[in-house]
Amino acid sequence: MTVSYVAGPASTLFGRHFLEVTDFTPAELRRLLDLARYLKVQARSEQRTLLRDRTLAMLFEKPSLRTRVSFEVAMTQLGGDVFFAQGSEFMIGARETPEDAARVLSRYVDAIVVRTHAHEPLQRFAQSASVPVINALSARAHPCQALGDMLTIQERFGGIAGLRIAYVGDARNNVAASLAEAAVMLGATVQFGCPPTHRPSESYLAKLDALGSQSGGSARAFSNAVRAVREADVVYTDVWTSMGEERYRERNDAMLRPYAVTEELFSYAQPAAVFMHCLPAHRGEETVAGVIDGPRSAVFDEAENRMHAQKALLAALLTELKGIPV
Ligand code: CP
Ligand code: NVA
Repeated sequence: MTVSYVAGPASTLFGRHFLEVTDFTPAELRRLLDLARYLKVQARSEQRTLLRDRTLAMLFEKPSLRTRVSFEVAMTQLGGDVFFAQGSEFMIGARETPEDAARVLSRYVDAIVVRTHAHEPLQRFAQSASVPVINALSARAHPCQALGDMLTIQERFGGIAGLRIAYVGDARNNVAASLAEAAVMLGATVQFGCPPTHRPSESYLAKLDALGSQSGGSARAFSNAVRAVREADVVYTDVWTSMGEERYRERNDAMLRPYAVTEELFSYAQPAAVFMHCLPAHRGEETVAGVIDGPRSAVFDEAENRMHAQKALLAALLTELKGIPV
């Protein structure tokens, strides 16, 4: 594909933060996905100058493979530079207030990607930053994962509206929340399968219904895993114990065992259903090799699409998308 010099509309995302999926409107999410699809097939040589002379800081308080590498490669392919820092020295609020750290970093770099524990210090940090702040995973949300997941679902099904997406396991975690918010905003039905200990609150389910009201999306929760998965187009799961929650591991293993995505549970979904997982995965826990390594698994497309979606995100937050026809 060659670049057309007919400009698309200016980016309404220019200069904004992305801490949660709901920071953007459904129309903005759709445009971001269009842009991701465009950048995915565009010749790399055409992208080399999009973010020239821009620097991205990445502060990670938790381990990462996909998020770190996909952001670094995305920024590099768009012609920008990356500063990566990991560990307690860079923890938000450890040596100084989140507000002071944000004001200082905003003097050095053009955008800041943060992987952290609690969400609230990240919000404080973003409120004081004068450059875009991107949530690369907090205890509450993993919005960049949701972008890559929506891109993957669109590729597989040609769209998202009207699909049935089952999420089984810890339905209160960051990945579940961001996936569900994006899915209902884009018109899908989300069916959680989880025990009462890991069930989203009624008020959160109502919030998801409200988010989906314009596009026909909605959410419900079942304690029976089969009911959640039955006739689903997508079956999604994540680790039973998220980073920072290790003290609950034994309880989670016991409570979530009936929600493992085995071949048997997966067989209740549509014959053409796809299996999704944000990775890293634990075979023999939340899923099994026969599913995640099977022909209907989309997990490596998801991992790849993190990079394309984040390229679109960086381009939209850091430029006005001049010269880009989507
Ligand atoms: N899915 C995901 O965010 O992976 P990492 O923890 O490896 O970044
Ligand atoms: N829910 C997981 C996602 C890892 C990408 C965690 O927070 O550890």
